[in-house]
Amino acid sequence: MKHIKVSAEHEYQVHLDVHFEGILNDVSKSHNKVLILAPEFIVSTYHLEQFLHPLENASLFVVPDGEHQKDISIVEKIWQSMGEAGLTRSDALIAIGGGATTDLGGFAAATWLRGISWYAIPTTLAAMVDASVGGKTGINSQVGKNLIGSFHSPQGVYVDLRFLKTLSDRDFAAGLAEVIKVGFIRDTEILNLLQSKNTVALAREISEELIYRSVAVKADVVSQDFQESRLREILNYGHTFGHAIEKYSHYEMRHGEAVSIGLVFAAELAGRVIGLKSDVIDLHRSLLQQFDLPTSTHIPFPPLMELMRSDKKSRGDSIRFIGLNSIGTPHWLEDVTSNDLEATYERITS
Ligand code: GLY
Repeated sequence: MKHIKVSAEHEYQVHLDVHFEGILNDVSKSHNKVLILAPEFIVSTYHLEQFLHPLENASLFVVPDGEHQKDISIVEKIWQSMGEAGLTRSDALIAIGGGATTDLGGFAAATWLRGISWYAIPTTLAAMVDASVGGKTGINSQVGKNLIGSFHSPQGVYVDLRFLKTLSDRDFAAGLAEVIKVGFIRDTEILNLLQSKNTVALAREISEELIYRSVAVKADVVSQDFQESRLREILNYGHTFGHAIEKYSHYEMRHGEAVSIGLVFAAELAGRVIGLKSDVIDLHRSLLQQFDLPTSTHIPFPPLMELMRSDKKSRGDSIRFIGLNSIGTPHWLEDVTSNDLEATYERITS
């Protein structure tokens, strides 16, 4: 078992290769009451009720599958359940699921009684390498993705690799987009690994190493800049354009698939404005395409531009992008013009 420390408003560990049943047991024992959030797929596939039955102080709240659970109407129902269960300041929430469930669960925990403890048990690759670590919690709304939220770190993140066995290849590949992002911004060994493990089946063989490397980078960056005053923005590589695509698709597209297109966009933009070499841009496309991830879009430019303006990475009138100077060296692109964005879009439209 491996552990990675994150120092944020408090210190916590990401524990790799645990068994979720034991964690449910231990966390339940250390609080008076716990509310467990999990999506229908996880509840039925992993017979969650069977494990919760002996835990007399635990109640289960089943959330809808997918990104649509990150909605204020669901949060209201969770608050209602917390009230009915009588959750006090010393009680806790456990979120078991993909990134949507850990974002939602963290937000419900952040807002109940102005903040109670919560624990994350991520079940998808995207949640294991990215969403469950970092303490950004939130929900979506009509105006954009993750615009409503709070910084509220979990007490612990527990990665049970067995969940990956029931993750579809499409979802595994979506998680790889975040892993590839980490390779381009910091841990370049990830890119070497994925050039040899060049199919989803082969990449699955090195899941643990990919998760460990990605979490190590995220933990280091978050520990230096928890509230994203600057350094943490490098983790948004590919996300400004990616979030616009994701929102435009009404979240039908996986987050990682949208980020995949966003990574190529960010690389092309860096090529245009700071001269990122074309072989590095090509490497983005080839690595992502190995896993059947999308690298182009036919969504028209004007609505994407509008959505990028409302993204939380806009400050004042300017839209902020992270680019690269070279592999492993992120660069803040501060003065990108609409012309640059439109010309870059032309290079990735199909
Ligand atoms: N929940 C994602 C993050 O904290 O970055």
